[in-house]
Amino acid sequence: MSTPLTLSAEQPLVPGWATGTITLGCDYNPEQWDESVWVDDIRLMRELGVDLVAINIFGWAQLQPQPGPFDFSRLDRIMAMLHEAGIRVNLGTGTSSPPPWMARIHPETLPRFADGTLAWPGGRQAWCPSSPIFRQKALELVTAMAERYGDHPALALWHVSNELGCHNALCYCDVSAAAFRTWLRQRYGTLDALNTAWGTAFWSQRYGTWDDVLPPRATRSAGNPAHVLDFKRFSSDALLEHYRAEESVLRSRSSVPVTTNLMVTAHIQTQDYWSWAPHLDLIANDHYLDHRLGDPLAELAFSADLTRGLAAGRPWMLMETSTSAVSWQPVNHAKREGELVRTALGHVARGADSICFFQWRASRSGAEKFHSALLPHSGTAGAGWAQSLELSALLDRLSPVVGTRVDARAAMVFSWQSWWAAEGDAQPSRLLQYLPEAHRYHRALRSLGVTVDIVAPGTDLAGYDLVVVPTLYTLTDDDARAIADAAASGATVLITPFSGIVDENDAIRPGGYPGAFRELIGAVVDEFRPLAAEATVLLDSGRRARIWSEQVRVLSAEVRDTFVDGPAAASPALTRRAVGAGSAWYTATVLDDESVLALLRELCAEAGVPALEVGPDVDIVNRVSATERFTFIINHRTEAITVPVAGHDLVSDERIEGSAVVPAGAVRVIASGRSDRGH
Ligand code: GAL
Repeated sequence: MSTPLTLSAEQPLVPGWATGTITLGCDYNPEQWDESVWVDDIRLMRELGVDLVAINIFGWAQLQPQPGPFDFSRLDRIMAMLHEAGIRVNLGTGTSSPPPWMARIHPETLPRFADGTLAWPGGRQAWCPSSPIFRQKALELVTAMAERYGDHPALALWHVSNELGCHNALCYCDVSAAAFRTWLRQRYGTLDALNTAWGTAFWSQRYGTWDDVLPPRATRSAGNPAHVLDFKRFSSDALLEHYRAEESVLRSRSSVPVTTNLMVTAHIQTQDYWSWAPHLDLIANDHYLDHRLGDPLAELAFSADLTRGLAAGRPWMLMETSTSAVSWQPVNHAKREGELVRTALGHVARGADSICFFQWRASRSGAEKFHSALLPHSGTAGAGWAQSLELSALLDRLSPVVGTRVDARAAMVFSWQSWWAAEGDAQPSRLLQYLPEAHRYHRALRSLGVTVDIVAPGTDLAGYDLVVVPTLYTLTDDDARAIADAAASGATVLITPFSGIVDENDAIRPGGYPGAFRELIGAVVDEFRPLAAEATVLLDSGRRARIWSEQVRVLSAEVRDTFVDGPAAASPALTRRAVGAGSAWYTATVLDDESVLALLRELCAEAGVPALEVGPDVDIVNRVSATERFTFIINHRTEAITVPVAGHDLVSDERIEGSAVVPAGAVRVIASGRSDRGH
């Protein structure tokens, strides 16, 4: 796995394609170690087969301990040592966290919370995304980095900053306020247009001058939802602008591909990555199992499918994950026997061609000293190192899958902007949450063995047989049309409640809910009738539902299920309308997990999407090329499973006839010829 990467502008920009192997990589923080340790590190990296090392992620304070000239001597040495060892570098621009002097000399670069409190330095990312001084200082560093290393033979990839927005996405300071006003002027042109878009006739909010417009700072009552939505859009754009400023310095001085590590995850929602993706040469994601969620493995699958959506179906890079525990959850669970392999392959199955870890060597000091690493505190003697070696060898055996695409016949429309807006302060129910709705439908499809492409609103859905639209609260007319077109051209479309309710300005689409989909579903919702926290309602089919019910009036749809009790008793709860060659289904409630599964089973049958009852603890995903199919089977269960697939297993190097028996906790990647048409 130590073949040098050869990325160039003409090639598909995914390290790994160029080498024909799955890239194994890691973050490396040589600043934390004496140079004598570096020698050992590089020897062991070679032993493990590390291809790509991310360095200088938090290097600024070492490069510039005081304002003034940069000292690149140590960075020069580690770059040279890595190059000599045949290990390529994913080079951080180093701007993710400024040195301590920044806050002393330029305190106006510090971000502020919504209540005006200052975010002090001492952690990381203590900078305001809109600060011109921070930007200037950061670009001085990026310029020096690009000039010094832009042609370095070890350089494979530029890594802009680090997880932009992880801690500093929303800043409410005066500098941000001014930048917000500039952004709003560009969006609306005139103050009248802004007043109309935000509906400021309400509560005496009409603005008479631009200077009165502020970020949505902490208030005593609910704020203006359109104002909040625009501030979130602005905040995502402000960080994207920062990325693009660094990117443009790099591109003017270096031809090496540029990216940054995204956080497609359940606990970060502040970046609308659909608008970021076109600016990244390759899509790179950071993903850690989140044990605060009900089903962390289902969330991994969701994140990986969404990351592939950002990559427009092309292979992508897992830029960070952990070998075992993290150090930032309330309880940091170690990975169980085999879980490292299963989770890494979970990403490969869903399109990753590079698997990189945070981090190489476990730190001795600092806030992450209990975070796992490829080389744990126990060194090479313990089980951790043995697992790292096992994974590396396995990734080598999977080389044939590099460059192949994931085969999916189902799609889910996902929107960060709907996530922001649907969960605003003054909605009919705080219990209806965007991401859990999307997760629930995705998880059910995964447990039916159905792979889902997660796509942006407005994506042309032609070719998908099944389209799920969870709680797409805000959308444009064009976005709505793309969904209607999918049904007309033959897809089975499912729309879940609180979709199509408002326009881009969070203003109600009039004429009865859901304004954007009324015609498509052939029904109108006269009133939302949300349920109390613990309440459930019974449906005619015997299904149970929670959180939400609605008074639905059918216009041209068939009623497939009805509320038996609760505040919407006797109202339709599930409808279906035949549309062109396809259909549009609508559910007016939050079905429980079993009911979601039953519904999707029915929808898959209607759509002709083959389902396999594998349950929630198994991943089955196909990656395909023009001639080959690779069936990934990841068995997270404690008992063996049997899957009807034949071919050559790349994991065990065995021929599989008829069906594959996958032991408890095991993985299989079965190569076979392609006999059918993938999506
Ligand atoms: C990421 C970050 C890394 C490290 C890692 C720990 O958020 O980019 O620097 O902190 O988490 O899990």
